[in-house]
Amino acid sequence: MLQSMHTPTNSSTLHLFSNPEKASLYVAQQIADLIRQQQTQGKPAVLGLATGNTPKRVYEELINLHKNEGLSFANVISFNLDEYYPIHPEDTQSYTYFMNRYLFGSIDIKLENIHIPHTNCAANGINEYCKAYEEKIARFGGLDLQLLGIGRNGHIGFNEPGSSFQDTTRLVNLHSLTREDAQTDFGGLENVPHQAISIGIDTIVQARKILLLALGEKKSEIISKALQGEITTRVPASILQNLPHVEYVLDHEAAALIEEAVVA
Ligand code: PGA
Repeated sequence: MLQSMHTPTNSSTLHLFSNPEKASLYVAQQIADLIRQQQTQGKPAVLGLATGNTPKRVYEELINLHKNEGLSFANVISFNLDEYYPIHPEDTQSYTYFMNRYLFGSIDIKLENIHIPHTNCAANGINEYCKAYEEKIARFGGLDLQLLGIGRNGHIGFNEPGSSFQDTTRLVNLHSLTREDAQTDFGGLENVPHQAISIGIDTIVQARKILLLALGEKKSEIISKALQGEITTRVPASILQNLPHVEYVLDHEAAALIEEAVVA
């Protein structure tokens, strides 16, 4: 790790790494430590998981730890942040497919412990479905750790700009930038769903530990806004600034625009 510090304007912690591999390794290690710590106490580890390009290396490392160091996921209860709506879980763009491909298919997590906010129910049944998803998280005692990426518009999960900080799991409309960023995966903008189910910002901030991972130059502008800008619903991730249980884990490129102010 290059640097680790409390950011000057708030009480969250910033960890800076020289490259994406080291940043991802750090995050994987944090997750593995939590899983093992809970195991020694005979408790489940309740993990909030993310999709996208950012966590892929983290999941790769967790699989390595499983295969090479015997890390077991038998005590893990997982809740994914979000899923497109509507989508079929076998579609290669679905987050169900993503999680199976990049993590769940290669570890010993129990199928019944995996939760992804996917439903086939019609739009008028979604509120009930979302309420039940929240209740399930609560029944397991809340999230021990939430892993987050960040969208170029500052979204966390699919909590797009304008989302209330009090929101819980619900059906959301996707922002144009989010749909644009997904168009390659879907083979064209016209194929990208307009809606998704996402856990809310209130659900996220209640996790006992939050790791926000951001990698690459593409994220530098939004990272500087999220960490140093005004706390505003226009930049949903900005809510995390004041939370002592938040760690921002950044590579040098993602941190490029905050370095002078925070890191100097
Ligand atoms: P990415 O997406 O990891 O694919 O950049 C992050 C996000 O939108 O939360």
